[in-house]
Amino acid sequence: MNAKSDQPRANTVATDGDVAASAQAIAAAIERHAQRPGALLPLLHDVQDRLGYLPAGSVAPIAQALNLSRAEVHGVITFYHHFRQQPSGRHLLQVCQAEACQSMGSGALMAHARARLGCAAHGRSDDGLFGLEPVYCLGQCANAPAVMLGERVYARMTAKRLDALIAATAESAAAETT
Ligand code: FES
Repeated sequence: MNAKSDQPRANTVATDGDVAASAQAIAAAIERHAQRPGALLPLLHDVQDRLGYLPAGSVAPIAQALNLSRAEVHGVITFYHHFRQQPSGRHLLQVCQAEACQSMGSGALMAHARARLGCAAHGRSDDGLFGLEPVYCLGQCANAPAVMLGERVYARMTAKRLDALIAATAESAAAETT
């Protein structure tokens, strides 16, 4: 991808402000959930909803607050595909991999998306513009295969339509930065 992006890159050094904001969001999530039964999953969801991912630095304070080992927290984060350990791209592309979509070629569509964006599932394009995730049903089983880009669901997706969608999104993003 060549479009410009103002998103942080995976290899960007986090500023003191970024780190402080992350620590604040993690501390606030701990405050909201730590005393509740079964706090770990809601707490992890809360942090990811606020930061877009679960930074490595979130594991220790969460483990300490819930009286768990770091390995236990890390194990839960890595067990659920939903949780991201790296920031996603600015535009999240989710390709449905549930049964109805699989039967209509969504595996090949995901492979196409990986090649087109140059990243693996759960990764993001080099320019940080797109994040790529599998998803398990978007409510469009009768119109499979389905993808979701940002907030919008697209049914009966093909590789050609997906290319056009990605190109249009990259073009609008480039226009926004000029
Ligand atoms: S299985 Fe893909 S939308 Fe339901």
